[in-house]
Amino acid sequence: MCYAIPGKIKGFEGKFALIDYFGEERKAYNELDDLRLGDYIYAQGGYVIERIPPAQAKDVLKLWKEVFFKLQKVDVRLSRLEKKSKISSKLTAILDKINHGLVCSRQDYLFLLSLRSSQDKNLLFKNANFLRHKYHQNGCCVHGIIEISNICRRDCLYCGISKRNKSLKRYRMSREEIIAAAGQAIKKYGFKAIVLQSGEDCGFKIEELASIIKEIRKKYPCLIFISFGEIGLNNLKVLFKAGARGLLLRFETSNPKLYQQINPGYRLATRLAHIKEAYRLGYLIATGSLIGIPGQTQGDVLNDVLLAQKLHAEMYSFGPFIPHKASPLKYNAFWSDDEIIKIISLIRIIDQKNGKIVVTTALETMSRQGRRKGLLAGANSVMLNVTPLSYRKLYLIYPGRAHEEESIALQIKNTISLLRSLGRAPTDLGIK
Ligand code: 5AD
Repeated sequence: MCYAIPGKIKGFEGKFALIDYFGEERKAYNELDDLRLGDYIYAQGGYVIERIPPAQAKDVLKLWKEVFFKLQKVDVRLSRLEKKSKISSKLTAILDKINHGLVCSRQDYLFLLSLRSSQDKNLLFKNANFLRHKYHQNGCCVHGIIEISNICRRDCLYCGISKRNKSLKRYRMSREEIIAAAGQAIKKYGFKAIVLQSGEDCGFKIEELASIIKEIRKKYPCLIFISFGEIGLNNLKVLFKAGARGLLLRFETSNPKLYQQINPGYRLATRLAHIKEAYRLGYLIATGSLIGIPGQTQGDVLNDVLLAQKLHAEMYSFGPFIPHKASPLKYNAFWSDDEIIKIISLIRIIDQKNGKIVVTTALETMSRQGRRKGLLAGANSVMLNVTPLSYRKLYLIYPGRAHEEESIALQIKNTISLLRSLGRAPTDLGIK
């Protein structure tokens, strides 16, 4: 199993390595001291993460070469734009602007979010899929997430692991368990990028987290994202030094008033300061918002997308709010899956070329077809849960999470078969 295609180094541009993949050139930031022309590497998220022996690379490339071009053909077929007759002239005009790279107005974007008929929505989804194919080809990155602790000091009104949920059994994985879980994901199952996530202030000292990250990178080359909430600006620096290269931190909503309501005692500005500092330090940024919190409007959601772009999102993570009975927001109904998929399409339209868009587990929880529909509407990233099963059940941010009971092997099997059916390769090749 393999979530990257080996590339061959064909040149250097400062700290960037130029990499050849079946005749296409990509770039990735290189931190290996002795990388040479002609070496074979794996890259992930725009970083070179590992050099591999030529014989191993050639074996893997041989397998890939056959599948790669077959998959591309399927993807081209599925992402082709067809002209439909009964589409309103307003929608046609907006999509024409988008496809010609012209600037759209705020009203145009809000119009897209307000579409109701299945025909109009499907055209929007198809258009976003077309743009995903045009600028990102058929790669789909597959990250693994390890939820290392469900202990949290915050009392966010929407979240099932907030400190006010006294009935939840709390856990914190040991250092050995975390390293073993990462090792299994990377060595046994072939993941090249992992996310370490926990509630905020989960009881680890920052030196401990740094040492775990260092150890994982030393033993198992990979790209590591951290997702421990607001850990403090200085600690971001400590963990970057230890080897973390990505930050997954949603700002939840770009509306400061709403933020105050759902995160009593905390400020949006502090959260944004973390994301900005992480970007300044060199972290890849994965961010986004929670969709369907009470009082949130489509104008707010549009602002969320624009804010994520301004924050240099390398990955957009926008997911539906799902009520949890042990939280104060338990009675609020959620938005439909199509509303979330419209947002995925809007993100792809607003940031056509740069960002990856993840299909969130929350969307999959809400709709069994969520992953497939999201991938056909502009998304190009999925995250599999590689937390040990006994802990996974306790990371109950919302009830009934998709894949809660599925082994890693089964999740991989299902993901690969879905990606194959859509003509997607489970890879992340770096930047163009
Ligand atoms: N429904 C959906 N997503 C939630 N999160 C927290 N609680 C819920 C919920 N009830 C999301 C938040 C957080 C991420 C780790 O989980 O957006 O950033």
